[in-house]
Amino acid sequence: MCGIVGYVGPRQSRDILISGLARLEYRGYDSAGIAIIDADGGLGMRKRAGKLQVLRDDLAGHPLADGTTGIGHTRWATHGGPTDANAHPHLADDDKLAVIHNGIIENFATLKAELVSEGYEFRSETDTEVAAIMIGREYAASGDLVAAFRATVARFEGAYTLLAMHQDHPGLVVAARRNSPLVIGLGEGENFLGSDVAAFVEHTRNALAIGQDEIVAITPAGVEVTDFRGEPVEVEPFEVTWDSAAAEKGGWSSFMAKEVSEEPEAVANTVLGRIRDGLVDIPELDGLDDVFTGINRIVVIACGTAAYAGQTGKYALEQWARVPVDVELAHEFRYRDPVIGPDTLVVSISQSGETMDTLMAVKYARERGARTLSICNTQGATIPRESDAIVYTHAGPEVAVASTKAFVAQITALYLLALHVARVRGSLPHAEIARHVRELEAVPGKISRILEREQERTTQLARWMADTRSVLFLGRHVGYPIALEGALKLKEISYIHAEGFAAGELKHGPIALIEPGQPVFVIVPSPRESALLHDKVVSNIQEIRARGARVIVIAEEGDAAVLPFADEVLRIPLAGPLFEPLLAVVPLHIFAMGLATAKGLDVDQPRNLAKSVTVE
Ligand code: F6R
Repeated sequence: MCGIVGYVGPRQSRDILISGLARLEYRGYDSAGIAIIDADGGLGMRKRAGKLQVLRDDLAGHPLADGTTGIGHTRWATHGGPTDANAHPHLADDDKLAVIHNGIIENFATLKAELVSEGYEFRSETDTEVAAIMIGREYAASGDLVAAFRATVARFEGAYTLLAMHQDHPGLVVAARRNSPLVIGLGEGENFLGSDVAAFVEHTRNALAIGQDEIVAITPAGVEVTDFRGEPVEVEPFEVTWDSAAAEKGGWSSFMAKEVSEEPEAVANTVLGRIRDGLVDIPELDGLDDVFTGINRIVVIACGTAAYAGQTGKYALEQWARVPVDVELAHEFRYRDPVIGPDTLVVSISQSGETMDTLMAVKYARERGARTLSICNTQGATIPRESDAIVYTHAGPEVAVASTKAFVAQITALYLLALHVARVRGSLPHAEIARHVRELEAVPGKISRILEREQERTTQLARWMADTRSVLFLGRHVGYPIALEGALKLKEISYIHAEGFAAGELKHGPIALIEPGQPVFVIVPSPRESALLHDKVVSNIQEIRARGARVIVIAEEGDAAVLPFADEVLRIPLAGPLFEPLLAVVPLHIFAMGLATAKGLDVDQPRNLAKSVTVE
């Protein structure tokens, strides 16, 4: 939440900041601002409530003097509503110091009271202004911006990335990080700071990942990183594996449309390099065989869509690796004293790798002695760095707030993990593993077929349903988390009430919601592979049809049994039961996108949301 960018170097910074913010806007888009130290050594600042375009228009009308040192921010409001005054940067030290912030300073009220009693006045309701005034106060005493940071952060509780610059020090941007994201981009005679690499990937792919509780000072000549006590620390370099074009919309109407179209590659790239001699062998997990043979339980922790991927992966982990699996929402996990220890493997799933709820749950699990493995899509992110092992999904940058291609990549990574662990534990014959590998490798082609054959019809269906007020989604077995995902995607971007249910649960209550005309999506399992489940779902369809529901069925090609009971049938190619979720979710993503588009909504930046949820 909140996007942060900083620049020092020979170039004029305004366009660098604005284009960095454009790439980070998915992190928050209720206000934006920049500050620049201009050629005369003055500090200029402009900030506006609304999307980045509002700031852009303002700057076009009333340009800010440009300069070669600058910071920029795009906000997702926490303390104080989305107003011009609450937008970042916040100024202090007679407006010579500018500060931007991502995160929450939890003890800000106490600190603010202290500052008010000292006579400081506030122009906003934010916790960030408290930080700005405190850094300004320390700086006024020492004249050393890094020392001022060190003294100030020592008093903070909570999670934050803070960036500041002072007009007395052109060519210097200082940052501190605790439990919030920050990466450095290394250029030639110029350096960058960003909430993630998207902030600077068009300028450099050489990056440094900043650890917890570290302070960074960037100048055109170099980068210095120290811990909160001032001791120098080693930082880990990495190269960004995607180029800036991957984070561009290209010719697509939205990032979401582009990202749904990339679902086949997201699966294929996640499998790539992890198959050896027809079996799954994930190189990143070399040397961990003892962990996999020693565990007696897996706990999957994640939030939102990533948690639904986890629920889907549970079926594969249990069926193939024969390890009991619990899937928990990360924000619930650590508050209930869970029973975990060295024989528990805690698998976290996060596209961004920064979700605070998940990060805190991972830390908690480690403290309790559990082994931790992170499934993550973002290099250099915090959660993988806090975990014992990492399996990256290779979905490429996901910019639309609603997760799509990352979801199929997460399920793919979980299936790979299940087959890897199954091989190590000897719980599945090699021939079986090889058969599942072939199924997994066939998935990208099958998703492409759905995109080719069903996209138009599904979008048309969504257009017809633009005035619908509520949609229900039903599934059984692995279809159940897909029903939940279908419902989440729809509420998230089209603001329509939607609920996902386990089809068997209907008669225990939710069937009361069915009235004539109520649209219900039903994910039907394959009749070839799971005849029993298939027939039970067909019975569920009859139950809701009898009460007037309008039934939209997602069923495999050739399944004629559903035809008499369905108002619409969307087809997916034949696949083994555990592979159906990777296919059935595709029409649901297309449907949500089509309906939101038909309602004239911004599918990439839905209201009230941000992509990377870095507050608890
Ligand atoms: C829904 C969505 C969210 C995220 C959730 C976790 O479309 O995007 O529910 O899945 O906030 O985010 P990550 O995966 O970044 O931890």
